[in-house]
Amino acid sequence: MLTLGVNIDHTATIRQARRTVEPDPVAAAVLAELGGADGITVHLREDRRHIQDRDVQVLRETVRTHLNLEMAPTEEMVAIALNLKPDYVTLVPERREEVTTEGGLNLLGDMPRYSRIVEQLQGANIPVSWFIDPDGEQIEAAADTQAQFIELHTGKYADAEGETRRSQELEGLKKGCAKAISLGLRVNAGHGLTYWNVYPVACIPGMEELNIGHTIISRAVLVGMERAVREMKLAMQGKV
Ligand code: PXP
Repeated sequence: MLTLGVNIDHTATIRQARRTVEPDPVAAAVLAELGGADGITVHLREDRRHIQDRDVQVLRETVRTHLNLEMAPTEEMVAIALNLKPDYVTLVPERREEVTTEGGLNLLGDMPRYSRIVEQLQGANIPVSWFIDPDGEQIEAAADTQAQFIELHTGKYADAEGETRRSQELEGLKKGCAKAISLGLRVNAGHGLTYWNVYPVACIPGMEELNIGHTIISRAVLVGMERAVREMKLAMQGKV
């Protein structure tokens, strides 16, 4: 059955905007699980822009579903993952200036190093997922590293303008998914998925998990607004 990994990074983005303690992504994870999340995803960035080291430590203790740690394939992050033992790791490219992860990793850039990272993590029973574009060569390279999973980057599909471009991108995702499965990989997908574009991706045969963040946090802010304002009015009357 297709599962949903809820990426809670942007609860931490709101907290870090004020360097305060609210909203706590740990509380967001509990509520996401109550809502039916099958997994919790967080990206511990090198620049610690949103999720902090403390968050991943507490989440490791409190998440009742599974914890997917997104991180760059660097020595620092591998050491953190080996210590934390998330349920799986998704390796993503990272540039300090980017607003968000901008595309899949280029595995062809450094296969010996990437294979070593997979060996280190999977040797410690932490399955590895490569975040890559639905590109035949990248999928083959991911299989060559012996990683158990890939996460197909759905950003180009999400950004495609017009029905023709969008169905071309969707076709690429379908082909990529089928190819990965034929090579023994398990397949997740994510990035840029919304309430409006998720369904065709959810229908791709063999897809296991969708990792979705921004659109869920955005909706949570809006659907929670009325109640939050009502509760502030009560607080102003000393009733909260
Ligand atoms: N998957 C990966 C690898 C990501 O880097 C992100 C964004 O952090 C997501 C999924 C979730 O993307 P979005 O926030 O656009 O749903």
